[in-house]
Amino acid sequence: MTTEDIIKLENKVFPWDAHLIREDFPILNREMNGLPLVYLDNAATTQKPMCVIDRLMQFYTHENANVHRSVYSMAEEATGYFEGVRKIVKGFIHARNKNEIVFTKGATEAINLIAATYGKMNLKAGDEIILSSLEHHANIVPWQMLAKEKGFVIHTIPLLENGDLDLNTYRDLLSRKTKLVGITHVSNAVGTINPVREIIHLAHQCGAKVLVDACQSVMHMPINVQEMNCDFLVFSSHKIYGPTGVGVLYAKEELLADMPPYQGGGDMITRVTMEASEYAEPPMRFEAGTPNIADVIALGTALQYFKAFSFDSIIRYEQELLEYAMQGLKEISGVSIIGGGHVQAPIVSFVMDKIHPHDVATIISQSGIAARAGHHCAMPTLQALGVPATTRISMTYYNTFSELDLLFNALHVVKKVFE
Ligand SMILES: Cc1ncc(COP(=O)(O)O)c(C=O)c1O
Repeated sequence: MTTEDIIKLENKVFPWDAHLIREDFPILNREMNGLPLVYLDNAATTQKPMCVIDRLMQFYTHENANVHRSVYSMAEEATGYFEGVRKIVKGFIHARNKNEIVFTKGATEAINLIAATYGKMNLKAGDEIILSSLEHHANIVPWQMLAKEKGFVIHTIPLLENGDLDLNTYRDLLSRKTKLVGITHVSNAVGTINPVREIIHLAHQCGAKVLVDACQSVMHMPINVQEMNCDFLVFSSHKIYGPTGVGVLYAKEELLADMPPYQGGGDMITRVTMEASEYAEPPMRFEAGTPNIADVIALGTALQYFKAFSFDSIIRYEQELLEYAMQGLKEISGVSIIGGGHVQAPIVSFVMDKIHPHDVATIISQSGIAARAGHHCAMPTLQALGVPATTRISMTYYNTFSELDLLFNALHVVKKVFE
């Protein structure tokens, strides 16, 4: 699919036709355990449309050259494609400047980069940072590692009974000592959508910077970093229909300008002698070595493909799927939905009476259904909600109501097995 084809797609499916979308995703035609695949693990990773797969093939078949180095035409073309994606990402999240976009190998690396550069330079004993109970381990562990080294304190925003963050306690935790707030936009474990704008506004009143983890929001809602006014934002390509191995770090230009390098090596310098090195300006200062060229380029294709659909339609359809899933799950006796708060992305965690979530996921897999069970890399979230593990379904715009019917049937089978 060319860029022109993608542009022609603009608003092609309104009202939403998931069956039409599914034609673009070849893997959705496969079977699992002899039955059609019902892929409900999109929070773990999304499937890839054919245009993304084709783009990788095209690059390695016809365009492969290293970037930012050589002057021969093929290398300059590759650099052009690669740098073009920085512009696409800039537009997608509404950054002010393409130099505010740093490519990493994933959201995890992007958060580690912030901790190892901005965090190391600015956080010290006596300082405090605030994280929420809804964070993925990727936005907890790097800060714990740094706190051990630097001696600052980490506070946690607790949950209310309905699964929302307790914003009154957040207000009480904030003080002039607070230097950073790390907040996930959407909980990967239970789907809660956090009021990030309010959280950012309150943090800024105390002079704290805010890091938004957009891994689970970027495919479900528009992101505008300027309106949100976050200082840092991260997401992973593979959660928005792009390849694995690429992450995006957005940071305000003035913050990046003051941050020391993350790793040393080629491409992040302007001059090297055996005595000392001078570092390049951002974003190159943070991209040492040969980047993941092909996958970055294919992320650009994924974003162009995705941008062709209207977010209004996506949100409307995904919320309908969510309501259908919640209703269907509630009608199965013994099923309890966990967390979620008062506004939820299409991610639902549930438990079944006296049946381990791993058993649920294993049995429904026999019906072709891919769902995740466990702690979802968010142990503190589940601890706060009082359960050790859940089964999680996470939907996206190519899932269908009939797939959810298959899930409900499969859960009845699970119940029969344990009767
Ligand atoms: C909310 C959230 N943050 C961070 C991550 C880490 O992303 P990655 O493993 O792609 O680095 C994930 C992945 O599941 C996530 O859901």
